[in-house]
Amino acid sequence: MGHVYLSRQLTPAAMAAANDLGVPLVVHDDPDRPPSREQLLSGVTGASALITLLTDRVDGEVLDAAGADLKIVANVAVGYDNIDVAAARSRGVAVSNTPGVLDEASADCAFALLLATARRIVEADRFLRTGKDWIWGPQSFVGLDVSGGATLGIVGLGRIGMAVARRAAAFDMRILATGSRASSEEAAAYGVEPVGLQRLLAESDVVSLHCPLTPDTHHLIDAEKLAAMKPTAVLVNTARGSVVDEAALVAALQNGVIAAAGLDVYENEPQLHPGLRSLENVVLLPHIASAGRATREAMGALAVDNVRAVLAGEGPRTPVPE
Ligand code: DGY
Repeated sequence: MGHVYLSRQLTPAAMAAANDLGVPLVVHDDPDRPPSREQLLSGVTGASALITLLTDRVDGEVLDAAGADLKIVANVAVGYDNIDVAAARSRGVAVSNTPGVLDEASADCAFALLLATARRIVEADRFLRTGKDWIWGPQSFVGLDVSGGATLGIVGLGRIGMAVARRAAAFDMRILATGSRASSEEAAAYGVEPVGLQRLLAESDVVSLHCPLTPDTHHLIDAEKLAAMKPTAVLVNTARGSVVDEAALVAALQNGVIAAAGLDVYENEPQLHPGLRSLENVVLLPHIASAGRATREAMGALAVDNVRAVLAGEGPRTPVPE
């Protein structure tokens, strides 16, 4: 059997689990940077399993470089838009992700962005650090009232969206949602109203994105959709950067088409659109939604479990959807 290739060091417990697989490990040696394309192509050569991150593009070339022994690509993320799933399937290679274990951490982060952006927390913190004179004022740093009546629109109500809905229900928000689970009993229990995207955009004070990136959702939120939102609205994106047309978003934030945005993800990570950094009305995070200690351990452990199952001749525990 070939080696298991890891494109980055995982957390200590996940590394210990990987070492227990009883198969040689080849681990990319820079803990802070992903492998270059050349390093990736050479590291995977002859591997039985790949444990990859969203920073690795796994396409036909990588799969062919790995060769005929390759049985699984186990992505340490719930998103798997970095993997050419069709190319893997056509070569008989399983693909798994890590659903379920990062819902709460991701929803915490989306809600943190929602609150920070709506209530201008980061902008106020930045102001205080300038050392300028200040005194309480009736109009100082006034933002959106979140509790007790603001409308939250959840685009793509899946597991993470549902965890956001639970938080929003506790804040007495009115909740609108699109997505297959928007009409479920669980959604109804949190007061979620299933609606179409246009109505969601027109009525929401906060729009939070939770859909996967697919050809259908690429630039789902473009200039036209931004114009359909309220001028006082806040956009939160913890899904994938390319769900939003980032240039259109920057223009919308500059021109008051919407009030503010809280972003964890970007179209060309790790690059940010040059306009974003100079805007006061955005809160910017470096893709950390799942960065809870226990969550990252669980994501790594689940990826290793998927590899263990497939190397033992079983199916992966959490294959990506058909
Ligand atoms: C995921 O799991 O897809 C997240 O974006 C990684 O934190």
